[in-house]
This record gives sequence, C-alpha cells and structure tokens, in this order.
Amino acid sequence: MTDTEQYIQRLRASNPLREPYLRSAIQALRLPKGSRGLDAGCGIGLQVSLLVEAVGPAGHVTGLDLSPEFLIHAERVAERDGLSGQVSFQEGDVNQLPFDDDTFDWIWSADCVGYPAEEPLPLVKELARVVKPGGSVAILVWSSQMLLPGYPLLEARLNATSSGIAPFTESMRPESHWLRALGWLRDAGLKEPIAETFVGDAHAPLSDDIRDALVSLFEMRWAGVESELTVEDWAEYQRLCLPESSDFILDRPGYYAFFTESLFHGKVANTK
Ligand SMILES: C[S@@+](CC[C@H](N)C(=O)[O-])C[C@H]1O[C@@H](n2cnc3c(N)ncnc32)[C@H](O)[C@@H]1O
Repeated sequence: MTDTEQYIQRLRASNPLREPYLRSAIQALRLPKGSRGLDAGCGIGLQVSLLVEAVGPAGHVTGLDLSPEFLIHAERVAERDGLSGQVSFQEGDVNQLPFDDDTFDWIWSADCVGYPAEEPLPLVKELARVVKPGGSVAILVWSSQMLLPGYPLLEARLNATSSGIAPFTESMRPESHWLRALGWLRDAGLKEPIAETFVGDAHAPLSDDIRDALVSLFEMRWAGVESELTVEDWAEYQRLCLPESSDFILDRPGYYAFFTESLFHGKVANTK
C-alpha cells in the first residue's frame, strides 16, 4: 500500500468517530441556505456532503486540496452521493488560493489550515481575501483526547512525544499553536471571533466501524513513538494499543473514550 493509500484509508476509517460532531460544528456556523463556500484542504471530501446539507439544494461547495489523488477520490464519492451538480473540486494551495477576492460566502477548513508550518497570519489573511464582506472563516482543529482510560500516565507520556504534539514542534512559537487561532482571527481583522469545542466519544461494546476508527486514531496520534518512550512504556503501549494483543484496551467491557475538536470562526469585516 502506498503512503497516499494508507492516508486515505486512515481518513476514511476515522470518519465514523468524527462525523457526528463535525455535523454539529457545521450546524453551529449557521451557513446561509443557498450560499457558496470553500472547503480548504478538503482531503477526500469527507465533509463535503455535510456542507452541502447545510447550504441546501441551492448552495454550492468547492473542495480544494494540494493532492490530486485525494481530489479524484473526493469527486468519485460526490458523484456516488448524487452531489456532482452542487460541488466542484480544484487542486491548489491554501497559502495562495486560486480564486479572486470576495469569491465565497464562507470558508471551512478542518484539520488543515489550523496547522500552518510557517506564520499563521498570512494564511488567515489569504482565507479572508477570498471571502465576501460579512462572510465567515472557520478553522477546525484537533484539541484533546482521552483514549486510554485507567492509564493516565502512559497516555500523558504518549501525548508528550513529538508525534503526540505534531504538527507543532518545540521550536515553534507558542502563538503558532492552533489553540491560539482566536488570536490569529483577531490579528487578521476578522470580527466577532468565537471558539467552540465539540466532543466525540465511544464506549463498549464497540461496533466494528468504531473499533477500526479508534485503531486508526491510535496509529495517527502516536505514530513512531518507540524511540521516545522507555522500554517499559513501549511494552505497555504494545500490550494496550495493538489489536493483536490479548490485553487490547478496546476489548475491555468498560472501555470509554472521548476526544475533542475546536472550531475557531469569525466574520470578514464589511470594509476590507
Ligand atoms: C488531515 S487532512 C484533513 C482532510 C479533511 N479536511 C478532513 O477533515 O477529512 C489534511 C488535508 O490538508 C491537505 N493540505 C495540506 N497542506 C495543504 C495546502 N497547503 N493546501 C491545500 N491543502 C493542503 C492535505 O493534502 C490533506 O488532504
């Protein structure tokens, strides 16, 4: 399996866990019926149908991503779901959007523009550039998780690895961390900036879908952590977090986990 195929598989696998709170987050934005918006960093288009649902039959959603492979996949899914008339896809970079000023009524970006490698301010200004005055810019980011009930120290140590804090790195400025996005929106001149947090959870007995999603989440959150753990913690991680282990934590009858994503949104000023 190529890296791209593996990434697609993980995004799809984690969707059953994410979709309920993503729908709530999109509803919280109260996108106007009939409006036209951009899903920036749409990946394989997992939220396109939720965005179309929000704007209704007269609305339109453009999905933009750097990866042509992801966009092919997203197009296929939109076609399968009968949405082709209401969605379009375009390859492009969120840092330099291939659209004129004031093109969209809103922008939604989940787990993409919140994680800038460089300074966030130019990126947020670029988003605001293509949104009409009074329109909204919304950035959703991963904010927390409790996935290993009963093992708070191991979980804290896993979360303190470079994979656990990624894509943030110790050398980055605290202001560049995504949980400072309210400040980015303010600095970019957006009005009425708001932060809201949405919770997803799962409890035993787990359906196959949710179990696969949690396995995928473990793999994504704590990839390649072995070199940063003690031998004892690595053995404990393998005992609890690998599906082939006889002590796999997802098989416990009292298993419960929750995680959050946070939404930062604001309005483009009437005079830019
Ligand atoms: C974690 S995925 C999230 C995908 C989707 N928003 C979701 O929540 O399912 C991040 C996506 O951002 C895209 N991406 C990363 N950097 C980008 C950039 N500079 N411009 C456009 N897309 C980018 C990646 O190709 C990937 O599809």
